[in-house]
Amino acid sequence: MQIDFAKLQYQYQLYKTEIDEALHAVLDKSNYIMGDEVRELEENLQTFTGTKHAISCSSGTDALLLAMMALDIQPDDEIITTPFTFIATAETIAFLKAKPVFVDIDEKTYNLDPTKIEDKITSKTKAIMPVSLYGQPADIEGIQAIADKHGLKVIVDGAQSFGSTFNGKTDSNLGDISTTSFFPAKPLGCFGDGGAVFTNNDTLAQKIKSLRVHGQSKRYHHQYVGMGGRMDTIQCAVVNVKLKHYAKDLALRQEVAKKYTKVLKEKNIILPFINKKATSAWAQYSIRVQNRDEVQTKLKAQGIPTAVHYPLPLHLQECFAYLGQGKGDFPICELVSNEIMSLPMNPYVENDEIAYIAQHISS
Ligand SMILES: Cc1ncc(COP(=O)(O)O)c(C=O)c1O
Repeated sequence: MQIDFAKLQYQYQLYKTEIDEALHAVLDKSNYIMGDEVRELEENLQTFTGTKHAISCSSGTDALLLAMMALDIQPDDEIITTPFTFIATAETIAFLKAKPVFVDIDEKTYNLDPTKIEDKITSKTKAIMPVSLYGQPADIEGIQAIADKHGLKVIVDGAQSFGSTFNGKTDSNLGDISTTSFFPAKPLGCFGDGGAVFTNNDTLAQKIKSLRVHGQSKRYHHQYVGMGGRMDTIQCAVVNVKLKHYAKDLALRQEVAKKYTKVLKEKNIILPFINKKATSAWAQYSIRVQNRDEVQTKLKAQGIPTAVHYPLPLHLQECFAYLGQGKGDFPICELVSNEIMSLPMNPYVENDEIAYIAQHISS
């Protein structure tokens, strides 16, 4: 058996007629930049998430930049975040010449541990940036309470978690600003790069919309130093179609996760843990095994692809050597990054594929 990790071609075939029609509608109108589909997507995202403002943009990375620029993050400001995430989370902080301040993760959820945040707050701290890793929001109650106590902003990096919830609210509603990514392999992906910024604050929304178009207030008049951060009309058309099916896709991902959990229990591996207050968008189903390299090699030989998110924590990355942190500084993150391994995850993983994967993991 050869298993496909994300089944992107399969999904395209499933929605081909609708997607092709939507793409041709854009081609026929040739409204490639800020066409009708952009506004339609933003309205659809608002309806789906229950947020007041959804602002599409060029990627999940640019969504983080727009969020921090809207909050006026300045050089030398400090932003508390997790070292166990994709590089973009801390890279965008550093790109704005602010300082990423890492805090270790919770050993069960792998998300930012709120009990360790307060020790890292200084007079320069401006915001906390939790990441909803693998699709599950961090403990936003704990994080928001600390932010409120110290007058800090919260930016949720929800690149992996569109449609997840915490205390019944979608993760786009958490914090002052929440972001997501429509990178193709994300739970809600487009056919290239795309992303969105969410907020319930009118002033921030206006500023983000302006920053996305070079800080423009009206044509060729620029109130802020902004960026070229628009999402292409074509990509919005794709997400508009996929969003119609997304509630069903999320439910299917949830089913796949449940089935994995059922067959993998008692196999001497650590399974994903979901906080009772949260639901996950299941961007990944990640397990921990002590002999990861061996397991990955043997699974690969049986046609089972796996991935590691992420093998090298951010505080150990060369680009962050200037922060002066080293091995042992965030022990839980380091332990998890040595053991973690993601299994094929998408809404369409078949029962026989799950059984096959479980059988080879056991052996
Ligand atoms: C946690 C996290 N933040 C940010 C990003 C950046 O998103 P994009 O690839 O759309 O720029 C990603 C994408 O992988 C991510 O996983």
